[in-house]
Amino acid sequence: MAHLAHDPNKMPDGRTALDLMAVLPQTASLNEKGNLCVGGVDLVDLARSKGTALYVMDEEHVRTQLRRYCTAFDALGIDAHVAFAGKAFVTRYMAQIVNEEGCWLDISSGGELHLALAAGFPAAHIIAHGNNKTTNELTEAITARVGRIAIDSFEELERVNALAIEQGTTQPIFLRIKPGIKADTHEFIVTGSEDSKFGFGLTDGTAFAAAIRAHEMEGVQLKGLHVHIGSQIFKIDSFEHTLDTMVGIIARLFEEQGITIEEFDLGGGLGVAYAPEHKPPSIEEFVARVSAALLTQCKARGLIIPQFIVEPGRSIVANAGITLYTVGSIKNLPGIRTYVAVDGGMTDNIRTALYDAHYEAVIANKASLPRDCIVTLAGKHCESGDVVAIDTALQTPETGDIVCVLATGAYCYTMASNYNKQVRPAVYFVREGDERLVVRRETYEDLLNCDIY
Ligand code: LLP
Repeated sequence: MAHLAHDPNKMPDGRTALDLMAVLPQTASLNEKGNLCVGGVDLVDLARSKGTALYVMDEEHVRTQLRRYCTAFDALGIDAHVAFAGKAFVTRYMAQIVNEEGCWLDISSGGELHLALAAGFPAAHIIAHGNNKTTNELTEAITARVGRIAIDSFEELERVNALAIEQGTTQPIFLRIKPGIKADTHEFIVTGSEDSKFGFGLTDGTAFAAAIRAHEMEGVQLKGLHVHIGSQIFKIDSFEHTLDTMVGIIARLFEEQGITIEEFDLGGGLGVAYAPEHKPPSIEEFVARVSAALLTQCKARGLIIPQFIVEPGRSIVANAGITLYTVGSIKNLPGIRTYVAVDGGMTDNIRTALYDAHYEAVIANKASLPRDCIVTLAGKHCESGDVVAIDTALQTPETGDIVCVLATGAYCYTMASNYNKQVRPAVYFVREGDERLVVRRETYEDLLNCDIY
């Protein structure tokens, strides 16, 4: 839950949009009117012509981030698949971009699989995740012949084996392992520690036992091991440590059981800058360091280097995205704070309420002016905790201004809801002066679609 407590020490920082470049999409610029533009599109015009709230994605930024991962591995001669984590942001157009850039896709539900297949995404390049996949979801994945299913429990292992045999196929699988590593991030997004609902444990021996069981099964082919230690991680040591541990179990499986693990999937987790002060490692540094750790560890243990897989989500899309809102009511509560209410909130961005996430904001039509106020951006929903940015610096707001909340490309659209029967915003991709509608705004009719009475 967001801590609403007002911080009286927060001072306006005098920054203009140009001082927030580290958080903004890569193609962000100011035009002659002083309006913020992304992909050559004036965000004020876009907001006023299409309506708000609106998600805007910088296509060039998304493609560049995907390419940076691929190029960094290529430059090091590492055979790697970059599997974009769809849970961070996925639409059919996004899936198409991921495919065009030669990347794989990580999906975490039957719905995401359905979307990927509907986008024409090659099933062989899909990795299916989830700690409690239903039998329907497993059947759909096996029927589609997805590239890998990451198995999360013994019970699921048995089910996938049986379903694959029933379908006369052999399903390539990963085993999801929790390496017992506590990544340095918010506790809700730590996933690799022992006390986690995800995967097989290392210290309790279940990972080892699962590998032995999978190896002897007919319906599955044990391709590799998978880990995901958490999200928004800045310390690469956590990944290096994970690699040490995982190469250790790969070596033991080979030495003690004669089981060869051909692939290793490190999951996602690289952090991003939500504020100019945040200094995440670059994609290149991440790739160089995890690749070096993999090579060193495998060499030390005399192992062939496994096919490497990473599953970045946030680091591909977070900074590519901006949410546009129109300022409605402004309430100045003397000695307390100024609430600036926008036409969205926790329904399009739950991250502030849920994780106390930090967001920066600028007014698109005043982007060249210094941020000379401290305000709290509140949503329009019936909760006091419905806030998007608490005590944030902003240009002096007036009703009708277009507020941009920055770095909302990851886990905002995909976590959006219809609370208060709010219609979810449209999503536009912008590139080279053109906007492309990829998800239309919901209508009131949409809200009744499933309401049968
Ligand atoms: N692979 C697996 C198996 C995952 O569970 C995740 C994220 C990723 C890859 C991508 O991680 P990333 O590179 O995006 O950190 N809703 C939370 C984040 C939850 C992440 C869940 N798993 C948030 O808004 O911060």
